[in-house]
Amino acid sequence: MAGNRSLNAAAKAKQDEFYTQMPDIAQELKHYKRHFKGKVVLCNCDDPFESNFFKFFALNFNAWGLKKLICTCFDGSSIVGRELNLFNYDEQPTSERKAYKVELTEVSDVNGDGATDLLDVKEILKSNPPVLLSGNGDFRSDECIELLKEADIVVTNPPFSLFREFVAQLIEYDKKFLIIGNQNAITYKEIFPLIRNNQLWLGYKSGDMAFTVPDSYEPRATRYWVDESGQKWRSMGNICWYTNLDHKKRHEELDLYKTYSPEEYPKYDNYDAIEVGRVADIPMDYEGYMGVPIIFLDKYNPEQFEIYGATESEGKGFSNGLWSSQSGVSQPVTRGDTALQANIHQTQESLDCSMTQEIQRSTERANMQESLFETSIVGMIKNAEGKIMAKLRMLG
Ligand SMILES: C[S@@+](CC[C@H](N)C(=O)[O-])C[C@H]1O[C@@H](n2cnc3c(N)ncnc32)[C@H](O)[C@@H]1O
Repeated sequence: MAGNRSLNAAAKAKQDEFYTQMPDIAQELKHYKRHFKGKVVLCNCDDPFESNFFKFFALNFNAWGLKKLICTCFDGSSIVGRELNLFNYDEQPTSERKAYKVELTEVSDVNGDGATDLLDVKEILKSNPPVLLSGNGDFRSDECIELLKEADIVVTNPPFSLFREFVAQLIEYDKKFLIIGNQNAITYKEIFPLIRNNQLWLGYKSGDMAFTVPDSYEPRATRYWVDESGQKWRSMGNICWYTNLDHKKRHEELDLYKTYSPEEYPKYDNYDAIEVGRVADIPMDYEGYMGVPIIFLDKYNPEQFEIYGATESEGKGFSNGLWSSQSGVSQPVTRGDTALQANIHQTQESLDCSMTQEIQRSTERANMQESLFETSIVGMIKNAEGKIMAKLRMLG
């Protein structure tokens, strides 16, 4: 039994090896610099020899005024140890265990060549050699939790398969964080209440992101390629950043230009709210509850709107009393038609897709759904998947 469990865990961990690229990290992190001065940063799913999160913070240690950088890796990672050789690192951990940590409290002028690149990181690691952990580097282990307690801000791309647990632990220890996840997580019963309570929100970038993956990963028909160096890549269309660090975009007002009419915005048959099919169509003069597509969260400004709930189809009790339970139907229904069906009709009519496009799209969707990430295409979430229709109360 225990053997089976650890095999399953290993299989899952194997599918968690998606390495974040430096430009994606730099593009997002630049919006949060002010939060980092004097802070202890923890990257707790990151092999320092591989992780661009480690590289980013090591290279910006002084410019950002960090107090300390801690980086721990998991010995289930298929790249752990590989880069030691790449760097011809003299002091390879000799134990069979390959989970280790690196702690930086200062970064000197490294190799002094004026450029910040991999050579600097190599020097940084030479003067701050990794220390073997006594366990396997699991972020839930006691020793990693001790490091978490010491940290002010956790920044990483955690294993997608353990996303719920990862976030729960951050909340339990009351940590600030900026992490990468899948947009599907928005509707998890463990995550959505945090969004509603403004304990967690989306960062800047949402949508496409490409990751390098280990050699062992199987080729795929879509969203997979091998670059000229032989490196395998996968991309996802529904990646986003989750954070509880404040940022400017979260306070930008969404421009509204439409006015409410009962004809254009029908009330749901089974929810005490009107249907708003597109975020851009949110009426400026409607003060009641509105069902909007999940993509709304990318534009969410808590001074302008209040997230009241989501449809019961996303979780029991999510509608916060707006659902009429006598209907027995949890999908939002307007005029006897479900929003799902209505939107499928609308999509077919308005897109006027050729057969080829349709086939390509469904192949892509099927492929993505097979993947660990249960991916949906951004912008199609409410249409194709019947995903959340958040209910909002306009405040201003
Ligand atoms: C999506 S990858 C991202 C790697 C790295 N953070 C990055 O962004 O490039 C998630 C990483 O978490 C590691 N991991 C899996 N299970 C873990 C666990 N229980 N504790 C800590 N790390 C884990 C995987 O080995 C993998 O390297």
